[in-house]
Order: sequence, then structure tokens, then C-alpha cells
Amino acid sequence: MASSEGEQGAGILVASNRGPVSFAVGEGGALTARRGGGGLVSGLSAIGPDADAVWVCAALGDGDREAVRRTGGALDPADTGGQRVRMLDVPPDVFADAYNGIANSVLWFVHHMLYQTPLEPVFDAGFRVRWAAYEEYNAAFARALAEEAAEGAAVLVQDYHLALVPGLLRELRPDLRIGHFSHTPWAPVDYFRLLPDDVAEQLLRGILGADRAAFLTRRWADAFTACCEAITGGTGSTRIGVHGLGADADFLRERAHRADVEERMAVLRGQIGTAPDGSARRTIVRVDRTELSKNIVRGLLAYRDLLERRPEWRGRVVHVAFAYPSRQDLAVYRDYTAEVSRLAREINTAYGEPGWTPVVLHVEDDFARSLAAYRLADVALVNPVRDGMNLVAKEVPVVSDRGCVLVLSREAGAFEELGEHALTVNPYDVTATADALHTALTLPGAERAERTERLAAAATALPPARWFLDQLRALDA
Ligand code: G6P
Repeated sequence: MASSEGEQGAGILVASNRGPVSFAVGEGGALTARRGGGGLVSGLSAIGPDADAVWVCAALGDGDREAVRRTGGALDPADTGGQRVRMLDVPPDVFADAYNGIANSVLWFVHHMLYQTPLEPVFDAGFRVRWAAYEEYNAAFARALAEEAAEGAAVLVQDYHLALVPGLLRELRPDLRIGHFSHTPWAPVDYFRLLPDDVAEQLLRGILGADRAAFLTRRWADAFTACCEAITGGTGSTRIGVHGLGADADFLRERAHRADVEERMAVLRGQIGTAPDGSARRTIVRVDRTELSKNIVRGLLAYRDLLERRPEWRGRVVHVAFAYPSRQDLAVYRDYTAEVSRLAREINTAYGEPGWTPVVLHVEDDFARSLAAYRLADVALVNPVRDGMNLVAKEVPVVSDRGCVLVLSREAGAFEELGEHALTVNPYDVTATADALHTALTLPGAERAERTERLAAAATALPPARWFLDQLRALDA
């Protein structure tokens, strides 16, 4: 069944909603390609340029759709860094209902436990329309993978967007070896059961269509297994795996010492300033996409509480908070983004003084500036209400210049590996978080350096290349 016209079927396939490249339409209709980063991109590069691998992804916006129109979907390798990429142009309304309506507004909310349950979720006729779109979008991926795969190929399906793909693909191509990987947490049984019964079962059976279902931590794997036991009677022949994606130390250390990062450090130092006695101000750094799960607002409340209850820090510390835009199609994300800015302004108005801005907030995505902040951090605040892993927690200790104390939520996946070397917090407890920030700011230099070393070692235990190859190998077994 593998595609026979020209191109050989691929031996390794990756499927994800967001692909490794995106396109923008510029002046005069020219398309410019922008390549993304992330664990999958560097993981896949580990198999080398000669491997017959294809990455199947969705067209996300108008630029992507135009690229699909011009190429028929098989993107020009010149735009993808050599990677074979097949981009799917799912009809825009179907895509919007599947991506925003189901993946971002329902599945993301369930796995991160974000609903305000007195009023939501409401599963009505509109939900059923969106669910049908989610099924259609998953079916489009399954068909494309079935077309692209060589006999017996390995297919690695990514995340909650594509939960139905393993089951659908299994029906089309029983010869394939299929893995599914969840980059998010998995909901506990009682919460997963908010979903309509048939939908909950369909999602589980979709993933159980894979030979192997893998997760970032044991905790999420156990939650998935518990859902299966309660709803489908068990995981059947599907094997369960855990692969805790780590930071890419070599890449980060090299990237963090380039000229653009140094330039941004100089700018940030200016914004942070020096204390009235001439000493360098301490920094509490956070870098997040503005997800509802990242808990940026409670982080700001904790910082305000620190300034309020421990006035000795006024003028001596700066909260460097980078909150980059995410999923702005959703009103609840826009509102949350606005609240982050409002609260930062409120704190600056209440406590700021000439020459001291308590919160330095940046909302435009800039990777070089993120690395600059990592290098300058005395304390890193990573306090999500729930998070699959959280790579920021793993990246800061690797890059930090002077050693930095990690204040880490016990609800982040990274807690499993980093918890014992961090100061850990209940993300809902603002007072305790403020106390942890105070403790972090006052830890003696030697202890700080020692903790940072242990954090960096744990954070880099499974770099992206090995994370990816381990999954391929496990699928072979
Ligand atoms: C986070 C999650 C991933 C998810 C991604 C999608 O990074 O950890 O599991 O795939 O968001 O983000 P997007 O911007 O594509 O909606």
C-alpha cells in the first residue's frame, strides 16, 4: 500500500499537528519558511540525513496552506533543512474545530485540569460538531501516514491532537509498528470522566491502537493505565513506556554564548539595574508560553507577597518575567494574557521607585533573550499548576552563569527528576511560594552552585536525540 509513484515509502514516520517548519506570505506573494526548534526537531535529526524519514504535519495558517498549494504537500527540502515533510491541508473550518475546539479547549483542559467545573465543560450539540471535525482531522493524518509508510515502517504519533490516529492507522495498515507519545500530563480517572463516556472510550481506544503508548513521566503513564482499567478494561496488548525528555546541553551551551545573547544580556542588565548601595540586584526569572497551565498570575502574586511581607527585598530584586503569546485564537487565553500584564503593571505602580522596576515583563517571543535571562537568573520560578514536563526547569540550570536556585512546582513532570535538588512548591499556595522565593534568594553561594550542578546533571540525562532513538528501539523490541 506504500506510495509507489516516484518516492519510496518511508521507514520512519513522525506525525504531529505542528510541523518543523511554517510559512508566511510576504510582499508580492513570496513565501518565507521559518524552521522551529524543540525536542522533536533535534530528536529526529539524530537519525541522520540519509534515513528515509517523513514528517507528517498540518498546515496551520494561510502561509502553510499556500505552501501546500504550490507543492502538493511534499515540501521543498530546501525549506525544511533537508527533512522530508508532508503537510496536510485540512479544510480551515475542520482544522479550527479540531485544533481550537477540541484539542486546545477540551483535551488540553482535561489533561491539565483547567475547568471551572461549576459552569464548564458543557458537552452539547456544538461539541458533537467539533468532535466530528476532530475525527475527520485524525482520519486525514491516518490516511496520509498509510500512504507514506513503507512495509513494516515505524510511526511515531505525537500528542493529544492525534489520539485517534493509532487506531485508525492500525486498521489501514496492520503491518506498521505504531507508537504514540503524550507530551502533556494525563488526567486522573475522575477528571478524565468529565468527558462524555463514548468520547473518553474512543480516545483511549485510539491510543491503544498503538503498539506502545509513551509518556514523559511515570505519573502520567500510571494515570493513563488507570483510565484504561476503569473505562476499556485495561491496556490490552499495548505496551506502556516512559521517556523523560531532557535538555540538549551541547546545543544550549553553544547557543547561549553567541553575540546576540550577549547583546540581550547587556540590555537586560540595564533594565534590572543596581541596588542603591551599588550591589547587583537579584533576579527571579521565569520564561513561559502564556498557557493557562503555567500559573504566571500566581507567580506574580507570590512575588508581590514577597515584597509586601519582606520589605528588605524592595529595590534589591527584580522579577524578570517572559510570557510569550500562545493560542491567541482562544478568548480565555487572551484574557489570561491581559491579566498577566495588568498585574505586572499593578505591582510596578504599587512598589516601583525611580530607578527600580520590580517586574520586567516581556511578551514578544525572543529565544536569544530567553537564554540571556537564563544566564542571569539567581532564582528560576517554574510553578505550573500542571505540566507534562517543563523544559525551562531543565534548561536554566544548564545555562545559568552563576548558579541558580530552582523553585519548582510539584505538579510539573520535571519534579520527578529535579524535585530533590529544587525548592518545591504547591503551585496554588501563593504564601508558600513567596516563602520559597525568599529562601531561594538567601541560599548561600556554595549550596546554590552545588544544587545547580546536580540539577543540570539530572536535566540532561536524556537528551532529545537519545529520547527519540530510545522510542524507535523500544518499538522494534
Ligand atoms: C506544548 C505542549 C505540547 C503541545 C504544544 C502544542 O508545548 O507541551 O504537548 O504539542 O504545546 O502547542 P501549539 O502552540 O502547537 O498549540
